[in-house]
This record gives sequence, structure tokens and C-alpha cells, in this order.
Amino acid sequence: MIRFEQVSVRYEGTDRPTLSGIDLTIPEGELVLLVGPSGVGKSTLLGAVSGLVPHFTGGTLSGRVTVGGRDTRTHKPRELADLVGTVGQDPLAHFVTDTVEDELAYGMESLGLAPDVMRRRVEETLDLLGLAELRDRPIATLSGGQQQRVAIGSVLTSHPKVLVLDEPTSALDPAAAEEVLAVLQRLVHDLGTTVLMAEHRLERVVQYADQVVLLPSPGAAPVTGTPQEVMALSPVHPPVVALGRLAGWSPLPLSVRDARRGAGGLRARLADAAATLDGAFALSRTRAAVPAPPASGERAPGRSTGRGKGRAGEQFIRLLRRRPSTPPPGPGAPTPPEPPASASAAAARTPSAA
Ligand SMILES: Nc1ncnc2c1ncn2[C@@H]1O[C@H](COP(=O)(O)OP(=O)(O)OP(=O)(O)O)[C@@H](O)[C@H]1O
Ligand SMILES: [Mg+2]
Repeated sequence: MIRFEQVSVRYEGTDRPTLSGIDLTIPEGELVLLVGPSGVGKSTLLGAVSGLVPHFTGGTLSGRVTVGGRDTRTHKPRELADLVGTVGQDPLAHFVTDTVEDELAYGMESLGLAPDVMRRRVEETLDLLGLAELRDRPIATLSGGQQQRVAIGSVLTSHPKVLVLDEPTSALDPAAAEEVLAVLQRLVHDLGTTVLMAEHRLERVVQYADQVVLLPSPGAAPVTGTPQEVMALSPVHPPVVALGRLAGWSPLPLSVRDARRGAGGLRARLADAAATLDGAFALSRTRAAVPAPPASGERAPGRSTGRGKGRAGEQFIRLLRRRPSTPPPGPGAPTPPEPPASASAAAARTPSAA
């Protein structure tokens, strides 16, 4: 549905291209999440799909970006409006009219549709986005999530095949973000819309993505894969992925729910590790209570070197990261937790990295 062929973008007054030699294919009907550090060129890539780059931003785009076969360099955003809908972070910046219903109708005006077709599309969109009860409300009186849904609705009445969203939940509270993400999922699942979205709040969106595209650094080639594949190496990732990487879980958790499922094995390993630590401290206390006479120039063992504690700490981290199948490191080491009963549970809980 969206193709980038050797695409580079250089803004005026800059000494190197923001995007360089991008080759990328985004299939129809998928929800694709674009991630990368701030300033890496995510909005630029999205703008190249909607035509805002270079038509509104200036700069030079070389190579070819096509959406549904239409070249975005030779078609201005207005000529792509029936194919690509664009929504930004701030819905208020998007609105042209004052009420919900007027805003939904406005997006179609340039398409020259018959009045009854326009009316039908407004009704469909009000229903699809759960906005029917708000139809007469002044937009300024709506919540952030409701406003963002109106912004999405106002581009949907043109029946675009592709929706491009630049940080659509960044300015919203968690409940409003959930509303917006539920709408996006419905569009992908029920209407087969292709959704390409950049978002910094990865903890909110990564679990809904079919594919993730990572721009690792300015001018670097994109890395594409499943959310788990890309999150395993992405410099930007949600806290739950950081935990999964640290604990060596495979597959990586993408949500708190995934992490809770994987945490059963981790809890058992932490309990083992805590028991080992207790044992190590008890031993060092016993040694401290019965000090051996120090040899000349030596400290009493176990007293203040902290070496017993250091060894136990290292053992703790080894236990945390150890594969259950790895043989115990030495006599007296705790046994790994029992493997889970089902294969899928095993897959969810088995750590992959030592
Ligand atoms: N119209 C413009 N003219 C000149 N330089 C620009 C323009 N738009 C963006 N840039 C520069 O291009 C680079 C990439 O910007 P872009 O907004 O695409 O990054 P981003 O990944 O979306 O960042 P963020 O995560 O902060 O939104 C930045 O260095 C930015 O300053
Ligand atoms: Mg941006």
C-alpha cells in the first residue's frame, strides 16, 4: 500500500539528509508503528506519505514514495485526501469548524460528493467512532480523547485507505489514549485501513502493532520486524520491554499483562536467589561471630571486606538471568524452577538470554 524506493529528504540549510536511501514497504490493512529517537526523522517520513514533505515543508525529496500507486511528490496533499488521512498530535490545530458534525462534513467538501452521500458518510462516521451523542457539541467543550476522535473522523469521511498519525496519543491521558487506540484497531480490523503511526508513548501502542519500523539514527536504514523483534534491539522501548530484556524473557513482553504472565518463573528464580543471599549472609555472620586470628597484614575474613556480599550479589544476578536448562553453577546451588505445564506457557516464560 505504501512504498518507499531509495527515498532521501534533505531540508534547506542542512548539511546532510534527514532521511537517506529509505526502502520500505507497508502492506495493506496493517497497523504499523514508526519508532526512533527524537529528531531522527519520523515526522519527515510520515510527511513524505501524506505529501506534506516536501510540498509544505520545503526541502528536496529524491527517490519515490507511492501510496496506492500515487506518487506523493507529484501529488499535493489535497490530491491525496481521498487516499491518505493525516492526524497530528494536537487535535485543536486540526479543526476548521466549531461543531462535531460540521467538522466531519468539512473534510469531504473538496471531494465534490452529492449531499446525500455526504450525509450518509457523516452518520456512518459518527457511529463508527462513538460520536453520535456529541454531534451538536461545540468541539471546544469536548475532552482530549473526544477531540482526537473527531480529528480522526474528519479525515475518515473521505474514505482514505491509509491513515497517517503523528503522535496521536502523546498529548492525551491514559484513558483518552485507550479510546483513540480502540478506534484505530477497529479501523484496521473492520475496514482494512492501513494505519501508519509514530508515537513516543510506546507502552501504550506497541502491543497493538502488526509491524514496527525503527529509524535507529539520522540517515540510517530502517529496521522492520514484529514488535518483539524490533523491541529486542531498539534504543527506544517501554519500561516493560526493558524488564523483559534484563530478565532475558523470550518472547519479550509488550504489555504489563505479558510481563505478569512471564513473571511466574522470575518470581521463583528471585525466591531462589533470595534464599541463596540469606544463606550467604548467614554464613558471613557466623564467620564474623567466630573470627579466626588474622595472619599478619590480613583482615579477619567476612568482617568488612563485603566480599561475601559481592559474591552473593553476583550469584543473584546469574540466577536471575540463567536459563532453566543451564546446569547449576556448583554444588549447593539452588535448582531451577519446575518447567511450566503447557508449551505455550513455557514459551512465554522461558528466558532466552544468559
Ligand atoms: N521543515 C523543516 N526544515 C528544516 N529542518 C527540518 C524541518 N522539519 C524537520 N527538520 C529537521 O529534520 C530532523 C528530523 O525532524 P523530524 O521532525 O522528522 O524528527 P522526529 O523523529 O519526528 O522527531 P520527534 O521525535 O522529536 O518528533 C530534525 O533535525 C529537524 O530539526
Ligand atoms: Mg515528530
